[in-house]
Amino acid sequence: MPRAAVAREIGSPLEVLDVELEAPKAGEVRVRLGASGVCHSDLSVVNGTLLSPLPSVLGHEGAGVVTELGEGVENLKVGDHVVISWVPQCGRCYFCEHDQGELCESGSAAAMSGGLLDMTTRFSIGGQPLYQMAASGTFSEETVVPAIGAVKIADDIPLTAAALIGCGVLTGFGAAVNTADIRPGDTVAVIGCGGVGLNVIQGARHMGADRVVAVDMNDGKLQTAQKFGATDLVDASNGDPVAQVMELSGQRGADVTFEVIGLQQTIEQAFNMARRGGQTILVGVPKMEVMVNIPAAIGLVIMEKQIRGCWYGSSNVHRDIPTLTRLYQEGKLMLDELISAEIPLDGVNDALDNMGSGSIARSVIKYS
Ligand code: APR
Ligand code: ZN
Ligand code: ZN
Repeated sequence: MPRAAVAREIGSPLEVLDVELEAPKAGEVRVRLGASGVCHSDLSVVNGTLLSPLPSVLGHEGAGVVTELGEGVENLKVGDHVVISWVPQCGRCYFCEHDQGELCESGSAAAMSGGLLDMTTRFSIGGQPLYQMAASGTFSEETVVPAIGAVKIADDIPLTAAALIGCGVLTGFGAAVNTADIRPGDTVAVIGCGGVGLNVIQGARHMGADRVVAVDMNDGKLQTAQKFGATDLVDASNGDPVAQVMELSGQRGADVTFEVIGLQQTIEQAFNMARRGGQTILVGVPKMEVMVNIPAAIGLVIMEKQIRGCWYGSSNVHRDIPTLTRLYQEGKLMLDELISAEIPLDGVNDALDNMGSGSIARSVIKYS
C-alpha cells in the first residue's frame, strides 16, 4: 500500500494516507516514484483555480522506476527509469501526427478526467475511488500510468532532477523553444519567475536571445532569475513593469514576451510590452472565468502583434524529454539548481504554503 497525498475538497490541506493501488491494466505501467516536484498547478487544484475531479492523488511532475508492466507494453521494461508526462502522447492521433502531441486526443481527455486512458483511476481508499491528477498522481510512493505517458531516461540521471522535467521544464523551456519564435539577438521579457518562468528564461537564452528581462514582484525570484540567464531585472512591485520594459528597449518593446503566472493584469502587461510585430506567449493558466482586453485594431491588426497560448510547452514528450536529459548531461540545462528544498511527502502542505515565498523555485518530494 503506497502512501499518497490526497486532496479531498477545495480549500483543505492534503492528507497523507495509505491508499490502494491496482495493478497496471493493458498498456499501463506501475512506477515507484523517486521524486515529485510541487508545481503551482497542484496549488491551483487545492485552491480551486484549476478544475480537477476530487478526491484525488495530486502531483504531476514526477520521475521513477518501472516496477510492473501491464499486458502488451513493449516500449518499457521493469527497471527502466522514466519521466512521467502529464499529457500521455499516443503518436497516432490527428494532433500527434500534426506535431501537437501536447493536445493528444487520448492523452488530453485522460488528463482532464482524473483517470487514465480509459478514464478510470487505479487509486482507491476503503473501496472509494481516488482520482489521479493529470493521468499521473505523483504525490504517492507508487502510481500506475499509461505506458505512453512514461518516457525512458538514462539510469544515471538523478530522479530529483528528472522529475522537474515532467512539468516545469517541459512547459517553460518548451514555451521558449517550441511555442515561441525567438531569434538570435532578440530581447525577451518573462513575467513571473517561478519554477516555470525560470525555465522560460533558460530556454530563451538557449534560443540565442541577447537580452532576457525578468519581471517579478519578488526580489528573491529576480535574483534567482539572474542565475538562470536573465540579463535585466524588473521589480513589478516598484513601478509599472510595462513602462520599465519599454524604457529598457528604447521604447520599442520586447520582441517576444511571456506571461508565466495566469493573471489578467499580467497577460495584458505582457501584450503591451511586446513590440510592433512582436509575439506574446501565454504560459500561466488563468482561472476559467478570466477574460483579457486586447485592442483588436491597434494591437492585433495595425501593430501586427501575435498572441499565442502555450499548453505543456507545445512539447512532443517522446522527442523533448530525451533532448532535455541530453542537454542536462552536457551541462547546458540547469535542473539541480531549480531545487530549493528536498522534502518528505509529509512536507507537501508546507511546500504548497511556501510557494509564494521568494526563496523557493521548486520544492521536490524525495521518496526513499
Ligand atoms: N507581477 C509579477 N510577478 C508576479 C505577480 C505579478 N502581479 N504575481 C505573482 N508573481 C510571481 C511570483 O512572485 C512568482 O515568482 O509569479 C511567480 C509564479 O511562480 P510560481 O508560483 O512558482 O508558479 P509556477 O510553478 O512557475 O507556475 C506558473 O505556470 O504552469 C503554470 O499553473 C502554472 O499558472 C501557473 C504558472
Ligand atoms: Zn495522440
Ligand atoms: Zn505543473
